[in-house]
Amino acid sequence: MARASESWSSPLGFVLAAAGSAVGLGNLWGFAYRAFQGGGGAFVVLYLVIVLVVCLPVLVAEMVLGRSTGHAPLIAPVTAGGRRWAPLGLLFLAAAIGILAFYAVLMGWTGRTLLHALLVGLPADMAASESFFALISSSGGGAVLGLLVSLALTGAVVAAGVRGGIERLSRWGMPALFLLLLGLLIWAAFLPGAGAGYHQFLLRWDPAKLLDPTTIRNAFTQAFFSIGTGIGAILAYAAYLNRRSALAIEAVSVVGMDTAVGLMAGCVTFPLVASFGLGEVVSGSTVGTLFIALPTGLASLGMAGRLVAVLFFGLAYIAAITSSVSLLEVPVSSLIDGLGWRRREAVWSCVGLVGVLGLPPALNTAALEVMDALFGGVLLILGGLLVALLLSWQAPARFLADLQGCATPPGLRRALLLSLRWISVPAIAVGLGVSVLDLAKMWLG
Ligand code: PFF
Repeated sequence: MARASESWSSPLGFVLAAAGSAVGLGNLWGFAYRAFQGGGGAFVVLYLVIVLVVCLPVLVAEMVLGRSTGHAPLIAPVTAGGRRWAPLGLLFLAAAIGILAFYAVLMGWTGRTLLHALLVGLPADMAASESFFALISSSGGGAVLGLLVSLALTGAVVAAGVRGGIERLSRWGMPALFLLLLGLLIWAAFLPGAGAGYHQFLLRWDPAKLLDPTTIRNAFTQAFFSIGTGIGAILAYAAYLNRRSALAIEAVSVVGMDTAVGLMAGCVTFPLVASFGLGEVVSGSTVGTLFIALPTGLASLGMAGRLVAVLFFGLAYIAAITSSVSLLEVPVSSLIDGLGWRRREAVWSCVGLVGVLGLPPALNTAALEVMDALFGGVLLILGGLLVALLLSWQAPARFLADLQGCATPPGLRRALLLSLRWISVPAIAVGLGVSVLDLAKMWLG
């Protein structure tokens, strides 16, 4: 099997594409909805600790796995650890395909809401908003059409290749997204309820929540989902890197951008929710909350609100597509690398498969929530645990040698290895255990 034959045009191209993978609906919608559920400040603190102490070393490890082997997610674990690591490659594929199936449905909702705000207007009150949401989320063909259009757009970008498709999209998409978000952040700061919103988001402090299993599960799920590590997407991207780029710095940039966007998005949605008195609706939070709450709140501002809705949902769609392409690249690169398929064949076969698997979440929101918890939560965290185990216990020499090749100081290399081994592995094991038990209690109890 050949090393990856495509490559990024520069390290910046890789960083922007990896940040594009990380920044997505998870930041704009998942972060806010889990922060509402998970007790404001306590959730945010847990989330930040997990991102910095647990996910960052795992992200570096996943990048090392991709770059040092030069292979796609299906093959790389075997190259690094031998045949008994083959199940990890399969887990990457299952998780990426499972997440893409429901992620593309959420993209469809986002796109529909955007078009509606642009062409028709915003729902006048909560009842109108709920029936609009029912229309886009589960009734008839609407959600299926949204799914298929989103998958087709994702497929078109990935089919155009690493440099001509994925990198080109991220190069304009990421700066555009950042500017739009900055504009919304400033606008939201002048809303009448802004102070109360920030307070609820960051300062509502309930220490008991730090030990609450649901808050812990939400924080782990959100951290892994948002960074997008443990699933092979960053691995697939890193396989297209050359040896010299400074992985540790690149990982810090990706995590920094992702966290900044999550916090900025919270500083837009929380003031909105507080200012329009939507706290009640949002605290009974489900995946649909923001799609119902935001347009209704914005409707009360007339034309200005409509413009903000167009910008917000437009931004969300850009963020989503730079993420969905990384999910699709996992099976696509594996088919190219493992079976020698041509890129186009691989892309459209995978799009067909995901289109079928996306039907249950498109037609039923409960199925979507289950897939979010299983693929976006449990499998992703399990993948992160296995990546950490592989690089810190099974193949530590590969980890150190790859980082040595890119001028990472020896002290930093060892510190990363030790924290991967002694902090990430046990912490993820605990997070995984708590998450599985919490889900079992929720579903069976
Ligand atoms: N990080 C993306 C988000 O926050 O929306 C979702 C995602 C992308 C998850 C890529 C996993 C992944 F491999």
